[in-house]
Amino acid sequence: MHDVNRLDGKTAVITGGATGIGRAAAKRFIEEGAFVFIFGRRQEALDAAVADLGPNARAVNGSVSDEADLDRLYAAVKAERGTLDIVFANAGAGSQLPLGEITAGHIDETFDTNVKGTIFTVQKALPLMGTGGSIILTGSSAGTTGAPAFGVYSASKAAVRNLAKTWAEDLKGTGIRVNVLSPGPTATELAKEALGEEGMKVFASMNPLQRMADPAEIGAVAAFLASQDSSFMTASEVAVDGGLAQI
Ligand SMILES: NC(=O)c1ccc[n+]([C@@H]2O[C@H](COP(=O)([O-])OP(=O)(O)OC[C@H]3O[C@@H](n4cnc5c(N)ncnc54)[C@H](OP(=O)(O)O)[C@@H]3O)[C@@H](O)[C@H]2O)c1
Repeated sequence: MHDVNRLDGKTAVITGGATGIGRAAAKRFIEEGAFVFIFGRRQEALDAAVADLGPNARAVNGSVSDEADLDRLYAAVKAERGTLDIVFANAGAGSQLPLGEITAGHIDETFDTNVKGTIFTVQKALPLMGTGGSIILTGSSAGTTGAPAFGVYSASKAAVRNLAKTWAEDLKGTGIRVNVLSPGPTATELAKEALGEEGMKVFASMNPLQRMADPAEIGAVAAFLASQDSSFMTASEVAVDGGLAQI
C-alpha cells in the first residue's frame, strides 16, 4: 500500500489494463484510491486481472480499434460512475519488420491499435470528463530513437507524441490535461514477444541503468501524471526509459 491517496474518489479508464504496464498502473491507481475500468480483448486476462485488483476494478472486453467497443466501455463507465477523471490510453502493440519487408497489413494493424485506437479512446472519453481531468497516452522511447526493423511501430509512437501536443491546444479552456508517458524497455509480454529473450538482454544493456523497467516503475509515473501532483503539466512527454532516449 502507498501512504498517499492522491486518486481518492477518482474514476479511471486504462486500456490494455489486464497485463503489463496497464495492469501495474491499475494496481497503483487503486492503491491510491481510484476506481478503475480496464479494457482489452482477452476475457481470461481481464478476469484474472479483476480477481487480483479487487472490488474497485471493472473489466470491459473490446478492441480500441473498434468504435462500437469503445462506446460500450464508456457506456459502462457512465452507468456505474457518471463521470470520468483519468484516461490512460495505454493499449498498444508492435512487431519488427525491416524496410524492404514491410506489408500493408503490418502498417494497418500497428496504426489501427496505436494511433486510431488512441485517438478514439480519448475522443470518446471527453463527454464524461471535465476540469481536473488527466489524459495519459503511452508513447515509447522508440518514438524518438531509431531501432532496427521497428520503423512502423516507432512511427506510430512518434504520432502519439504529437497527439498530446495538439490535443493540449484543442483542450484549452476545459481544465483537462494531456501528457505522453514514454517507457523504455519494460519487462512485459509485449517486450518478450517483440524482442525475444536475447533481444531483451540487448535492450536492457543499452540504457545507463542497464536493466529493463519493472512495469510498476511505469505505473508509478502514470499515477503521478493522473494526480494533481502534475497539475501544471500538459503536452509533456515524460520519459521513463532508464535514460535510453535521453543520452
Ligand atoms: N514493454 C515495453 O518495453 C514497452 C516500451 C515502450 C512502450 N510500451 C508500450 O506500453 C504499452 C503497454 O504495453 P506492455 O508492454 O504493457 O505490453 P502488454 O502486456 O502486451 O500490454 C498490451 C495490452 O494492450 C492490450 N491491447 C493490445 N491491442 C489492443 C486492442 N486492439 N484493443 C484493446 N486492447 C489491446 C492487450 O490486451 P489484449 O491483447 O487482450 O487486447 C494488453 O493487455 C503499449 O502501448 C506499448 O507499445 C511498451
